[in-house]
Order: sequence, then C-alpha cells, then structure tokens
Amino acid sequence: MSRLRIVSVTLAGAVAVGLAASPVSHAQPAAAALTYTADGKMVFPKDYRTWVYLSSGMDMAYTDSPAMADHHMFDNVFVNREAYEVYQQTGTWPDKTIFMLEARMGQDRGSINKKGLFQAPLVMGREAHVKDTARFKSGWAFFPFNGGSASGPAQALPQTSQCNVCHEKHGAVDTTFVQFYPTLIGKAQEMKTMSAAYLAEEKGAAGAK
Ligand code: HEC
Repeated sequence: MSRLRIVSVTLAGAVAVGLAASPVSHAQPAAAALTYTADGKMVFPKDYRTWVYLSSGMDMAYTDSPAMADHHMFDNVFVNREAYEVYQQTGTWPDKTIFMLEARMGQDRGSINKKGLFQAPLVMGREAHVKDTARFKSGWAFFPFNGGSASGPAQALPQTSQCNVCHEKHGAVDTTFVQFYPTLIGKAQEMKTMSAAYLAEEKGAAGAK
C-alpha cells in the first residue's frame, strides 16, 4: 500500500511539473532563427508553416503573356512571428526578417469538389526573402529552395537578380509586396512606410485611369 502511494505521489509530481512547464514553453516559442551553413548557404526553415500566414496569391502574373490553360498555381506567404510583431508596431521590417513563399498547384476536381480550386499537396517550390543587413549590400537577399521536396541549404541569388530588381522597384514596403497582404497594408498607410517608388507608381496608375 505504502509502495503504491509512493508511485502515485511520484506520478502526481511528474504531472505537476509537466503542467507547470508547459505554459512557459508555449509563451516563449523558439524564435525562428536565420541560420547559415559555414559556406554561407541559408538553412531551410523547416517550421515555416507555423509562422504567420499573410496571403495566398492565385495565378498571379507580372507580364501579359497568356496563362497556361488548365494549369493553376497558388502561392502562400509566411513571415516569422518576431518580424510580424515588429511590423505591427512600426509598419516595416526589422533585421533578420524571414519570408517564405510556397508554390502549390491548384486542383479543380477531387473528393466532393465540383467547382473552384483547392491546393494540391505537392509543393512546386519554396523561396525565401530575408533581411540581413550585415551580410547583404542591399539589406535583403533571395534564396530559392528548388523543387518540392528540396529542403536546402540554398545559395543566395546575386544582388542584381531579377528577384531583387522587381522587389526593389515594385514592393510597397522595404522591397516586400505588402500591397498584396491584406492584413498589413493598413499599417504601412498609417505609419507612412511605403516606398517612394511604390507611391509614384500608384499615383501614375491612378492618373492613367
Ligand atoms: C516581376 C516581379 C517579381 C519578380 C521578378 C519576383 N517577384 Fe517575388 N513577389 C512578387 C509579388 C507580386 C509578390 C507577392 C506575391 C503574393 O501576393 O502572393 C512576391 C512575393 C515574394 C515573396 C514573399 C515575400 C515578399 O517579399 O513579399 C518571396 C519570398 C518572393 N517573392 C521571392 C522571389 C524570388 C526568389 C524571386 C526570383 C527568383 C522573385 N520573388 C521574383 C513579384 C516578383
């Protein structure tokens, strides 16, 4: 009997410790860290799907070339939570911000779906856009994690890449496409953090209407 009591006391103790420990670990999730290999490649952030979800673009295209018939793509955008929280205060991105963009094929027929599209399980590609001012001249760099199952590490694209050019020229806030992230654009307007290039572009577009 006494032996049994010791066991149950020990168990209760373990449960109490477990309960006491768990709120602490929930309150302080491990910060999403921007890490590199010794040769400067970015380590694939494998938990990015637990970060803050910003938006999904569907069949977005940046030229007028005709879209491929019967072929649809979604892209899902995530940002690390620490950067998101700073953005909520300032309307711009702190150093060590990490964005992940994930491309998935759109599928029309499947299960009970008769109309519209849903995202297929197969990942077509993942790309990172990171702010690291000590490492990159412009402050930002792009890393393509090629292929669906590729999990890096990835080499930074040159600072003169097409990715850099388009993002610098057209991204509303600090080379990022906040104009397409519905929960973020309001803060940029409020804090007046939109780039001069973007504002000029919008003014031109409004004038042309
Ligand atoms: C012609 C313009 C253009 C080019 C070139 C371009 N992007 Fe983008 N990028 C966009 C747009 C527009 C979005 C917003 C997507 C959305 O709303 O789903 C975006 C979003 C992103 C994001 C999400 C974070 C952010 O900055 O807003 C990443 C990551 C990204 N692009 C990576 C790349 C990489 C890597 C390349 C080069 C291989 C590239 N992009 C080239 C226009 C471009």
